[in-house]
Formats: sequence, structure tokens, C-alpha cells
Amino acid sequence: MIEKSGGRGGGAEYGIDWDARDLSRDGELDLENRLTETGYIPGDGEVENPLRPRAFSEYIGQEKVKENLKIYIEAAKSRKETLDHVLLYGPPGLGKTTLAGIVANELGVNLRITSGPAIEKPGDLAALLTNLSPGDVLFIDEVHRLPRTVEEILYPAMEDFALDIITGKGQMAASYHLPLPKFTLVGATTRAGQLSAPLRDRFGVVLRLELYEPRELGLIVQRSAKILNADIDADAAIELASRSRGTPRIANRLLKRVRDFAEVMSGGVITLNTAQIALERMEIDELGLDQSDRNMLRAIIKNYGGGPVGLETLAAAIGEEAITIEDVNEPYLMQVGFLTRTPRGRCVTPAACAHLGLPLPSRLRAEEELQLKME
Ligand code: ADE
Repeated sequence: MIEKSGGRGGGAEYGIDWDARDLSRDGELDLENRLTETGYIPGDGEVENPLRPRAFSEYIGQEKVKENLKIYIEAAKSRKETLDHVLLYGPPGLGKTTLAGIVANELGVNLRITSGPAIEKPGDLAALLTNLSPGDVLFIDEVHRLPRTVEEILYPAMEDFALDIITGKGQMAASYHLPLPKFTLVGATTRAGQLSAPLRDRFGVVLRLELYEPRELGLIVQRSAKILNADIDADAAIELASRSRGTPRIANRLLKRVRDFAEVMSGGVITLNTAQIALERMEIDELGLDQSDRNMLRAIIKNYGGGPVGLETLAAAIGEEAITIEDVNEPYLMQVGFLTRTPRGRCVTPAACAHLGLPLPSRLRAEEELQLKME
């Protein structure tokens, strides 16, 4: 069902149709209040968030994605055509929704936002599509979660800008061919591999978002601090950046919390010392790992001899959702070299044991000894 979700709030500059949004996200990642969570939690403000860049000129990082998108947008504008459909994929919190907003802004069109699970029936999609104005951008988050029946009517909509709807059954069956305004679909997913091939093939532009470098996150923290009127020292910004697991959404969330500590503890200025104390209180370590990351690594080391252990077994052992482990914990743990995924399951690395101050499990010790002998 397409739910009403609280009127037409702050997103005026994107021409956002809030009615099309599903903000509830029931059954999604079990986010609770984890500070390093990359999924949406209430309070991020989503698109009306003042921290969100509104133009490419304000958007830091993802240089390749930005440069390519700029060219495709300019070319489409100069030909007076709609932009080809765009698929953005990559871990959560890297700016997929933000980029969809920027694309709409740069094209000078409206942005309508919805998500795969919010579109339950073909009629829901039909209602969205028939209400678009020519050239509009329709953003579908979690596009891999569209029901199959909806996906099937999306194909002709993307390809021919038309809806083919069949009503009734047997002798009463009738088919309608309903032309639609031309539009650009921007689909976002954390799991490109779960997209059906026919849907994936209908995106003319496919772009992968990467985790951000600490330097880029440092600039994002400085920019956000300015918007929030928070006074932050350069070394404190770098400290936050290096503990944000490559993810702007986390960097901005940590900034807001660290600002709270600074206001109460040190007259408002976010110094390196206040940032470090605040991060320690929030149990976020020097590499940005939080309790949940450490629990997971510890469980693999202590309960499963360092691995391999299957995802579902691990999820049950630590009381997390498998999807949260895959989408939230693993990308960063693999990036920092603490975790590997093998066909037989998840394994920790010696670096993870060293980080946690735990002795190497016997399998890893044997591997290291073998390595030494061969050198
Ligand atoms: N805030 C969140 N993501 C950002 C980005 N990529 N650039 C600038 N500010 C941001």
C-alpha cells in the first residue's frame, strides 16, 4: 500500500511527494539506536535533512559516479530528452537518496520517493506513475524488494513509457495500454545481486557507490559542522571521520552526538579530547567498530575457533538479523581486513584477533606457523 506519511513537509526544493513515501520500514534492518548504524533511523531527517547536499558542487566524494552522472545529465538536457534510468548500488548510508535528489535538482524536475516494499500491488505503481509529470525522477529505494507482480508492469513502463494492464478474467478479460509521461527511474539497492536480470538490464546507467576515504569524510564533517553551527577543531573532524566506517550517514550522526558532549562538557567547542571522550562513551573504538561488530568478531573467535561459520548460525549466536550482519557489519569489517567470506562461512583474520586483544585460535595459529615455515 502507498501510505500517507505526514503531509508535504520540508522537501519542497526537491518537489518531493511525501505521500509516496513509506517511512515505516517495518521488518527492515533491526536498527534500534545503534550509533554506527547505516540504515535510516528516525532523526536522520532523510531528504529534508539540511546536511544533505542539494547540488553536485556541494557533494563530496564518489568522484567517478559524480563525473559520469554530470555528463549523462548534461547530454540528456542538451538533447531535451529524459535521462536514462539509473541504478545506484552499494552499502547503506553512502548517499543514494541524496544523489537521486541532486539528479532531480540538476535536471530541474520533481523527485518522487518510494521504496520496493512500499509498492505492494501493480495498482500502487500505476498510481505513482500516472501522477508523474514529464521528465520527473521516480526514486525507488530497495528496488530489489519490489514484488514480482509489480516488477512485471514496471518493465514496459521503463522501456516504452506505457502501462499494460489486464482486468477481469476469462471472457471478461480486457487489456489496456496506458501511455505514461516519460520519466527517469532511479533505483537504489544494497544488493545488486538480488535484482532480477530483466530489471537490471533495463537500467541504462549502473553506478556503484564506494565507502568514503577518511579525508572525504573529514570534509563532510567540517561541512556539516558549519551547517549545524558547531565549532569543531580540524583534528577532531579527522578523528570523527576515521571512526565513521567510510559512511557519511554515520559521520553526521556521530557529529551530532559529539556536539552534545561538547556543549555539556567543554563550552561547545568540539576538540580532539572531547571527541575522543565522547566516542569512548559511545563505545566506538579507534577504527569505528561498535559493540555489535566486536560481539560478532568475538563470537567467531571464541565460539567457532575463528571460523568458518555460516551466516545464519552466526546471526543466531549473536542475536542479530542475518541481513543486518551482511549489509551493515560485514562491508566495513571486510574493508578493514578483519573478516573474510569463504564458501564455507565467515572467518576472522589474525588482525581482528590482535585488534580485540585475543589470542589466535588454533587454526589461525597453525596457518601462521605454516606460513612462517614456507618463508
Ligand atoms: N552529507 C552527507 N553526505 C555528503 C556528501 N557526500 N557530501 C557532502 N555532504 C554530505
